[in-house]
Amino acid sequence: MKTVVITGSTSGIGKALAEYFIKSGCQVFAGFRDENKILKDCIPFYIEMKDSGSIQSAAEYIKSKTDKIDILINAAGCVTAGPAEALNIEKVKEQFQVNTFSHLEFTQKLLDLLDGGKIINISSVASFGYFPFISPYCASKRALDILFSAMGNETKRNIKIISVKPGVIATPLWEKSIEANSSLLQNVENFQGEMKFLINNARKNAIKGLDVSKVVKCIAKIDKLKNPKSSYTVGIDAKFGEIVSLLTQNQINTLVKFVYKLKVFTNKLF
Ligand SMILES: NC(=O)c1ccc[n+]([C@@H]2O[C@H](COP(=O)([O-])OP(=O)(O)OC[C@H]3O[C@@H](n4cnc5c(N)ncnc54)[C@H](OP(=O)(O)O)[C@@H]3O)[C@@H](O)[C@H]2O)c1
Repeated sequence: MKTVVITGSTSGIGKALAEYFIKSGCQVFAGFRDENKILKDCIPFYIEMKDSGSIQSAAEYIKSKTDKIDILINAAGCVTAGPAEALNIEKVKEQFQVNTFSHLEFTQKLLDLLDGGKIINISSVASFGYFPFISPYCASKRALDILFSAMGNETKRNIKIISVKPGVIATPLWEKSIEANSSLLQNVENFQGEMKFLINNARKNAIKGLDVSKVVKCIAKIDKLKNPKSSYTVGIDAKFGEIVSLLTQNQINTLVKFVYKLKVFTNKLF
């Protein structure tokens, strides 16, 4: 029986993955922070990604129950948004703590159990790094990819490290991100039009994004491969993002400014 550990298993992508692996007959350790959201037929473990003590306790708990992990899926995540010039620095640090540092810390503590296994990070098309007004999110995902790519290149262990970069997926993340950033999004000076666009776009993404099953399908494929690639995109938007990332920074910036102005303008018109 395979053993799978998943953080962020109470909602969206992580939840769909946990349900898939439970259904496939795996032993699934599923991370939660709200006990009302614990899934059936898994081994739940409490983890708050903002808290090192909690990460340590979660790893110790898992080690007390198993001596082998086949797949670790780092899925927990959130979004900090707003114009870079108005961001609260503590919120930016928190973004990196939840989306980047916590995953490195948790993974480090489980490495001894992962020999012969896979680490799959739920990164994002945002890791290509050029979406305005969600720069903390983009930067946290890029940093995640860099840290884990380095780990994969350096390690003497037999562990495959894979980054999965979905485009827009219809999950509760979008509504949560509006709520978590509401005071800045609604009150920031000089960017009211852009913030309105950002909120409307998030609401649209929550409905029109791809179904989580697309991410599950990608990870089910990775699970079956002996030698998976180190990076996968999910969705046409993510593939497009990957292609755009091949341009120079200057070309990307020119393109982003052009497209974003066009979109804000169009949004105001219609
Ligand atoms: N949705 C998209 O379009 C999209 C695209 C690319 C990448 N992603 C990435 O996919 C991953 C899953 O996102 P999702 O869309 O499935 O969002 P979601 O439905 O909001 O799920 C996020 C999960 O992370 C958990 N989480 C958030 N902050 C946490 C913290 N401080 N400590 C512990 N757990 C925490 C949440 O717990 P609660 O249930 O308690 O809130 C939830 O289980 C994230 O890393 C996200 O960046 C999403």
